[in-house]
Amino acid sequence: MKNLVNEIKRLKEEKNAIILAHSYQNIEIDEVADFVGDSLYLSRQAEKTNADIIVFAGVYFMAQTAKIISPAKKVLLPNLNAGCLMADMINHEQIVSFKNKYPGVPVVCYINSTAEVKAECDICCTSSNALEIVKSLNTSRVLFVPDANLGKWVEKQLCGVEVITYDGNCPVHHNIQKTDITNARQKFPDAKILIHPECKPEVSELGDYVGSTSGIIDYVKKCKEKQFVIVTEKGVSDRLKRDYPDREFILIRDNMLCESMKLTTLEEIWHALEYEVNEISLEEDVRKRSSNCIDRMLKVSV
Ligand code: 13P
Ligand code: SF4
Repeated sequence: MKNLVNEIKRLKEEKNAIILAHSYQNIEIDEVADFVGDSLYLSRQAEKTNADIIVFAGVYFMAQTAKIISPAKKVLLPNLNAGCLMADMINHEQIVSFKNKYPGVPVVCYINSTAEVKAECDICCTSSNALEIVKSLNTSRVLFVPDANLGKWVEKQLCGVEVITYDGNCPVHHNIQKTDITNARQKFPDAKILIHPECKPEVSELGDYVGSTSGIIDYVKKCKEKQFVIVTEKGVSDRLKRDYPDREFILIRDNMLCESMKLTTLEEIWHALEYEVNEISLEEDVRKRSSNCIDRMLKVSV
């Protein structure tokens, strides 16, 4: 294992490569990662880097987004089976027919979507900037794809904006029920409950804080409380336990696991980097149109 870590680090230097890792990845990936964080943070790193190769330890849409933002770079996804259940809920035909039902209404696209879907949308957003992005449109009606929960959460926060949502969700978060939160409150009355907005809005509104994976980690960093209930994928609570051994983190359910996020291994990272395989490619027309959607977000959201 140590040799593998050293070998990956050596390859990164030799090939001027960086490794971006999402906070849901297996925790040992952090040993070789240059940046670990949420979707927005990692997109920003893909935009800023001078590296020639980006290895994305995450899921397909994340690596694809890095390629859209940095087309001249080689973007590698160590395990090509790492998809996203939510992104797979909407394809090109479905976004087009959804838009056709509401002509003229701007379309906000959650980053958890394919390039083909982004290419049909006006502006992208992530869980950390969805409110800011919808607000920036200055309109009373928007379409929001594919995450109905995040869209409806945004609508609740921004009184006066109608958010018409597509019927997609992340099963990992969508399965959480209000009773999971009320039971946790009863069992851990002093704990702060931190929730990802991919949960149902009626679940999110029971939390002490609602935010992206990095938002949840930052919340813990900034506050002095000792006990937290984490309502998102296990990778976040694993990292919090590692970084704050004097505090207690309770994962809302044992099965908060994104199987796709857990596919990537150190061996696969090494293999992708050594042989420069599993490269992400895109048709130029789709890349350009999806790039407009992402660029618009990166301009609005600082
Ligand atoms: P974040 O942008 O909060 O990292 O969310 C990505 C994701 O896939 C959550 O399920
Ligand atoms: Fe997709 Fe859900 Fe996994 Fe996030 S946790 S990558 S939304 S399947």
